[in-house]
Amino acid sequence: MKLLLICGGMSTEHSISRMSCTNIRKQVNPEHYDVTVLGITKEGDWYILDQNVTDYSSENWLDHAQVVTETFAFLKSFDCVFPVLHGMYGEDGTIQGLLEMANVPYVGCRVFDSAAAMDKVMAKKLFNAAGIKQTPSVYVKKQFDGKFVVVNDDTTEDENVKDVILKTIGLPCFIKASRSGSSVGCYKVSEVSELMPRLQEAGQYDSKILCEKAINATELECAVLGNDDVIASRVGQILPHGEFYTFESKYEDEQSATCIPARVAQSVQDYIRENAVKAFKALDGHGLARCDFFLDQDTNEVYLNEINTLPGFTNISMYPQLMKDLGIDTPELIDRLVALAFE
Ligand code: DAL
Ligand code: MG
Repeated sequence: MKLLLICGGMSTEHSISRMSCTNIRKQVNPEHYDVTVLGITKEGDWYILDQNVTDYSSENWLDHAQVVTETFAFLKSFDCVFPVLHGMYGEDGTIQGLLEMANVPYVGCRVFDSAAAMDKVMAKKLFNAAGIKQTPSVYVKKQFDGKFVVVNDDTTEDENVKDVILKTIGLPCFIKASRSGSSVGCYKVSEVSELMPRLQEAGQYDSKILCEKAINATELECAVLGNDDVIASRVGQILPHGEFYTFESKYEDEQSATCIPARVAQSVQDYIRENAVKAFKALDGHGLARCDFFLDQDTNEVYLNEINTLPGFTNISMYPQLMKDLGIDTPELIDRLVALAFE
């Protein structure tokens, strides 16, 4: 089977995608696939990567690469595509739309589920409708003229942004660019004076901003796999070294660690596994997702944080680790994901 892996992309998570793809390329069963790797630069140019390059995270990833000009015809020449892309233009339904138009089977969520999961504000509405508990939040929108307004559930707008945030969720809180990933454009705010400057910063990544109550939380993650019949892994725990699981602690801090199974009560793990599948189905998910939860250390309440439809796939990433824990090693996982693309 001719399999195309895609990495890089026009996203703040470009570098992680190149790490994820390096790992997937290494783990693909060579007897099952004839693999081509497409690299998309931060500027959006497409290159077929040289077969002799094996580390796509290296500076030399484009050495001897061949530019692709007829992008549509190129996509059509494969039996299946695995977009190993994170964030905007990769995990948000845009490339999925292109693949639908090219009529090529592809791994993972479809257009709607990808877009819904990527947009934290919109995902929250769907999870609420499915009765899944989430942390209290406020949706702030940056208007075209640069002004911030709170958008209420009934879509009325309120200009008293600071007051509404302080009254509804209080401090500390998290300010998150709605359509970002890997904690890029995500800030913890503890002082009132930081509130508006941090909103301004998040507004540089996205006009939609989600402000969430910060809780003293243990971060727990569950991996799901499937289309109609969805299986859930055991629950993994993040042991961050810094104050929260930032971009640096995720990819650059060797002291941040993960632990499977999580060191929490069995009842909490059961609840998370059940709600991971529920959340995936609430978005009509396909293929795979990593569902991230918070366990409130003060109240023992469990909240869904978010769903990642193309979770990190580096050799230290939680998704492949949780699947391995289920007895599905990465070569088999890739086979299963490809098979799901055809269902
Ligand atoms: N967005 C990153 C890749 C993750 O959630 O794993
Ligand atoms: Mg994420």
